[in-house]
Amino acid sequence: MGFGISKITDGVYSVGNSIATQNLAPGKSVYGEQLFKYGGKEYRFWDPSRSKVGAAIKKGMANMAFGSGSKILYLGAAEGTTISHMSDIVGADGVIFGVDISARSMRKFIYLCEERPNIVPILADANSPMTYKEQLGGFTIDAIVQDVSQKNQAEILMRNCHAYLKAGGFAYLSLKVRSISSTDPVAVVVEEEAKKLEKEFEITEIINLEPYEKDHAMIVGKRK
Ligand SMILES: C[S@@+](CC[C@H](N)C(=O)[O-])C[C@H]1O[C@@H](n2cnc3c(N)ncnc32)[C@H](O)[C@@H]1O
Repeated sequence: MGFGISKITDGVYSVGNSIATQNLAPGKSVYGEQLFKYGGKEYRFWDPSRSKVGAAIKKGMANMAFGSGSKILYLGAAEGTTISHMSDIVGADGVIFGVDISARSMRKFIYLCEERPNIVPILADANSPMTYKEQLGGFTIDAIVQDVSQKNQAEILMRNCHAYLKAGGFAYLSLKVRSISSTDPVAVVVEEEAKKLEKEFEITEIINLEPYEKDHAMIVGKRK
């Protein structure tokens, strides 16, 4: 390869103008992303226009509270595009519980989980965290990542945080502004939602995800 690779944070690498993770399932591409080898290891490019966590990293997100061995609760798993990269990051000693309400998405997601033993699929409504208590197997959760297109996004996060997030753990709320208001200015909605989280979290970063995602922000908070 004609370019170098440098570490951005635990498990995430900068390659030219792109970001990448080391592939936990060598030879397998998840959503059509390109694979490449460097120094005897295989990596996968992480497309920030397909993943809000990827977009936040590209936009310089500073508080990356997940790495090798982390236990993560991911709300809004869909088919697992973003989770696949987080699975690379947490590695064989970590685990990601991926919750989604859609049986259709879950069917595809389960194939990914079969290839990656560190992902646990959970078909459930993230509004009702106690319905998946057993699947979480008593693990303490280090970080919650949420990407659900619902009006009550902050409330869903707070409920899951009360149920599972450790004190000092981090939450990453990928806020879809247009699920909350179709007309209010993005900055106003983001500020109002961040305020709702302030009771439980110290808000450490708010990142506008443009140009990768329109009308989205990543709100990062540390549980008090
Ligand atoms: C934008 S997609 C998530 C994309 C995914 N995070 C990624 O980057 O690969 C939003 C997902 O939220 C799920 N969702 C919506 N409401 C939900 C709820 N109440 N509980 C769990 N999942 C929900 C949808 O089924 C959909 O798959």
